[in-house]
Amino acid sequence: MAITEVTMNNGEKMPVLGVGTAVYPPPPAQVVTKAVLEAIELGYRMFDTAALYQTEQALGEAISQALDLGLITSRDEVFIVSKLYCNDNHADRVLPALQKTLENLKLEYLDQYLIHWPVSIKVDAVLFPPNPADVVQMDIKGVWTAMEECQTLGLTKSIGVSNFSCKKLADILSFAKIPPAINQVEMNPTWQQGKLREFCKAKGITISIYSPLGAAGALWGTKSVLESKVLKEIADSKGKSVAQVALRWAYEQGVVIVTKSFNKGRLQQNLDIFDWKLSDEDTKKIAAIPQVRANEGNGYFSETGHIKSVEDLWDGEI
Ligand code: A2P
Repeated sequence: MAITEVTMNNGEKMPVLGVGTAVYPPPPAQVVTKAVLEAIELGYRMFDTAALYQTEQALGEAISQALDLGLITSRDEVFIVSKLYCNDNHADRVLPALQKTLENLKLEYLDQYLIHWPVSIKVDAVLFPPNPADVVQMDIKGVWTAMEECQTLGLTKSIGVSNFSCKKLADILSFAKIPPAINQVEMNPTWQQGKLREFCKAKGITISIYSPLGAAGALWGTKSVLESKVLKEIADSKGKSVAQVALRWAYEQGVVIVTKSFNKGRLQQNLDIFDWKLSDEDTKKIAAIPQVRANEGNGYFSETGHIKSVEDLWDGEI
C-alpha cells in the first residue's frame, strides 16, 4: 500500500510516514544501508538524516543500490530530508554545508533541508554532546536568508526548521521571503505539542515529528510511550502493538511522522497504521496522558552559557 502524502505550503508533497536514521553513537554504515533498502522494499519512500547523524553517506548508498536493484526507477521517487547542524548555523556556512550533505548523499538535490536547532555553536566546537560554553548568538535572519538561497538555487525543494518554538517561528515569518514549510519537533502521546500545532496550522507550516515512539534507548528518549498503560490497554483491545497505536494517533493528528527502526519486522509493523482507527474514547484517553518533554536540548543551555535555561531555549513552551 502506498503511503499517503501531505502538500506543504510550497506545493511540494511529502509522504506522511518515513524512516529516521538518528542513532548515537552512529551505527556502522552497512547497518543503515541495509535497513533503508529493506524499508524501500517494504514501501517507505521518505528518509530523514542530518549532518550530525553521520548517516548521510549510508543513506545515499542505499538509494544508489535501490536504483541498481530496480526497487525504485528514479531518485525522484524518494523524499530525502537532511539538516544543517549548529556549527554551520552561520550565514556564510549554510550553502557549503548543504553542498557537503549532497556530496555525502551523492544527490543533486534534497527534498527538504532543515535548520536542526535554533542554536549556533562555534565552528570548531565539539558537535555532540554539545557544550553550552560553545553556544554563540544566532543570526537567524542571515541563516534563514541563506536557506532561502539554497532553495532558490534548486539544491533543496523545501526548507524548514526543527526544534523551533512558536516565538522563533514568528520571528522567521516576520522577515522570510520563503516561509518555513516544516517544523520538525518531538511529538508523541506523552508530549502532544498542542500549542505549537495550533500555531503552525494557523501559519500553514506542516509539523513533522521525531520520537513518535519516545525514542526509547536514545540519549534524548523516554520509555514512557512504549511503556504507557493507557496505550497498552488500547493496543490490547485492538490487537495492535503499542507502537502502532502511538503511530496511528500521530497520523490521526495530521502530522508527518519520522520513526526510527532498523529492524525489518518492526519497519513492517509500523506501516500497518492506515486501515484502522482509534475510537473517540481512545483519543480522549490519550489526550489525558500526563505531558513531559523528553528532549529538552541539554547541552545547549547553562546558567553561564549564551542560552541560560531550558525555558530560554524553548521560549517558555515547555
Ligand atoms: P529498532 O530500531 O530496534 O526497531 P522513535 O521512532 O520514537 O525514535 O523510536 C525509535 C526506537 O523505537 C528504536 O529504538 C526502535 O528500535 C524502536 N522501535 C521502532 N519501531 C518499533 C516497534 N514497532 N515496536 C517497538 N519498538 C520499536
